[in-house]
Amino acid sequence: MRISVIGCGYLGAVHAACMAELGHDVVGVDVDQAKIDALSDGRAPFFEPGLPELLKAEHGRLRFTTDIAEVSHARVHFVAVGTPQLEGSNAADLRFVDAAVDALLPHIGPGHLVVGKSTVPVGTAARLADKVEATGAELAWNPEFLREGFAVSDTLTPDRLVYGVRHGDDRASDVLDEVYRRPLSTGTPRIITDYATAELVKVSANAFLATKISFINAMAEIAEVTGADVTTLADAIGHDARIGRRFLNAGVGFGGGCLPKDIRAFQARAEELGVGHALAFLDDVDQVNLRRRQRVLDLITDALGTELAGRTVAVLGVTFKPDSDDVRDSPALDIASRLALRGVTVRATDPEGIETARAKVPSLDYHESVRDAVAGAEVITVLTEWREFRELDPREVSTWTDARTIIDGRNCLDAGAWRAAGWTYHGLGRP
Ligand code: UDX
Repeated sequence: MRISVIGCGYLGAVHAACMAELGHDVVGVDVDQAKIDALSDGRAPFFEPGLPELLKAEHGRLRFTTDIAEVSHARVHFVAVGTPQLEGSNAADLRFVDAAVDALLPHIGPGHLVVGKSTVPVGTAARLADKVEATGAELAWNPEFLREGFAVSDTLTPDRLVYGVRHGDDRASDVLDEVYRRPLSTGTPRIITDYATAELVKVSANAFLATKISFINAMAEIAEVTGADVTTLADAIGHDARIGRRFLNAGVGFGGGCLPKDIRAFQARAEELGVGHALAFLDDVDQVNLRRRQRVLDLITDALGTELAGRTVAVLGVTFKPDSDDVRDSPALDIASRLALRGVTVRATDPEGIETARAKVPSLDYHESVRDAVAGAEVITVLTEWREFRELDPREVSTWTDARTIIDGRNCLDAGAWRAAGWTYHGLGRP
């Protein structure tokens, strides 16, 4: 099929490359010339495992351009632009979605299908459908559930496909079946529903995941005053298949370009709809999450004594999670920058995130290796659980630094091994 993808950020670039991998003829469109140049050159503009290989392999079927008119060759148009948090509000900023659809309108007509992938407040698809249908084209909403770091496999072999279509619009579903023929042929579940349900599936999935993480972090708060161990607790309750162990890792909490802004936008939308009380608990989910950052700052303050200015702390990990260079709403970078604001010299390192972090928080003292970052530090913190940090040998680290206090913000280290090597170990919600 001939496909266009509007927006070539994390979602759009991966989606375009994966659609080509599924055998389609794809054009990706973005207003950012630098991004288009990189992608056209077979280079991923951000770190995502597997994406560079796809970009190189699919050169024949995959093009990138800044010229929106090139979409007129396609019949299926995916809208994959961002919906960031609106400045000064919890609501989603729909400016890019509206601009993308408006830009498409002169180039579409009967026989074209516009497919929304962006995460939007419920009710958006119905509003956009009126504009799209005025051209004779149709609209479907097909949310994405991809995780950074696994975006390629999540797109090629998704857990499920959700199509939100106008009541009885079999044609839109048939077209999407054709697009996703390969994953469907291996039994991927597919749910066909209305626009509102499709939009809600996405935000409620993220709200559930955020709630699950904040639940275990709330248990960590209780563990901290009772001497209990939240990791053992998570293992034990996780054996109950109704609960499950995944997304029960206590630590500095969730960040990234999705979970934090999605739960806020969901609450804002519920308030607009007059049912804000239904999602009032998401405010607590947000607050529990943010309190964990303060907890790490408190542990650092306790370790250093009251005066932070002029002290030196090593921060291992600045991205919002491992296997990503994304620092959007990263708990690690937030903690690091709050330390720097209080006059601490922050020696930070990250396997992939140094450049993205430096662009946002230039005041940190960035280092390429753990060895350099920990040298001269008084306290070491691990704030993103990269494998490289999980596998550190505490005895070796002792030869790189005089520090003997480690704060494990992701509960990813072997506390016993660090203590045995002479370190004072602090996890979150762990004795
Ligand atoms: C998320 C959803 O998982 C995905 O389905 C959706 O499409 C987009 O948002 P992503 O933002 O890539 O994906 O990250 P995810 O793996 O969900 O992690 C989000 C945050 O939660 C990270 O900061 C991570 O460190 C944190 N997390 C995750 C925890 O603190 N504990 C856990 O147990 C799991």
